[in-house]
Amino acid sequence: MLKNLWTDKKYFPEFQGTNLLKKIIGEGKFNYPKSLYAVMDTVKLMTSDQGIVLDFFAGSGTTGHAVLELNKEDNGTRQFILCTNNENKIAEDVTYPRIKKVIDGYGNTAGIPANLRYFQTDFVEKKGSVSQLKIDLTRQCAEMLRVKENVFEAVKLKKQAKNYKFFKNGNKYLGIFFDFFTDPEFTDFIAELNKLPQESEKSVYIFVLDGSASIFADEFAGVANCEIKEIPQKILDIYKQLAREVARK
Ligand SMILES: C[S@@+](CC[C@H](N)C(=O)[O-])C[C@H]1O[C@@H](n2cnc3c(N)ncnc32)[C@H](O)[C@@H]1O
Repeated sequence: MLKNLWTDKKYFPEFQGTNLLKKIIGEGKFNYPKSLYAVMDTVKLMTSDQGIVLDFFAGSGTTGHAVLELNKEDNGTRQFILCTNNENKIAEDVTYPRIKKVIDGYGNTAGIPANLRYFQTDFVEKKGSVSQLKIDLTRQCAEMLRVKENVFEAVKLKKQAKNYKFFKNGNKYLGIFFDFFTDPEFTDFIAELNKLPQESEKSVYIFVLDGSASIFADEFAGVANCEIKEIPQKILDIYKQLAREVARK
């Protein structure tokens, strides 16, 4: 049982934070990262071995590193989501390379196999009507929906499509249609859905202005194992709120 996390030397940032980071990505990139062991023990105390750990202020990425080490230790399937600003290019020069090296291996240290995705945020330009803005915002939701559904691999389609995308993870598929269902590409979207393996689990996100995806259920009636979801209004609301805050500055 852990009684006091912070008295053992392994919890000191200068030994298991700074020196460790130096070994992984070189010197002088980030001052005073936390001890890997302090974060490993904290995560172990707070989550199960299948937990998802979110660190909004990830800095040098110690949390992601700790999650990978814990999975190695106990064969867990924990996942992590790290967010950081990019001050002094920290995301590009430290957070991402560190995690990538822990996965691939560095020096004499063997890698810890895992998947890693790196997303960047950006502003969406306000142009055209409110409906157009919603469509533009919706197009930017794809990455968030991939995170939400845990489906990342892009499916290559024979026909180039402007208004839809498919992703997969094993037996699970994610389809996103970015425009009104009256758009001519909607028919192709349904045809592509029908080509997916019958028994696969399909989540389909469609764009609706009025928040009622269920009225389009008939359009998908022939597609097996398919759940229809609307592009979450919550995501659009958050974007709107951000846009308002940026406009005020
Ligand atoms: C105290 S450090 C985190 C240290 C981390 N636990 C480690 O071991 O590396 C906080 C980090 O949060 C990042 N940060 C600051 N403001 C932020 C914001 N608004 N959103 C996301 N990240 C931010 C900074 O880049 C900074 O490196």
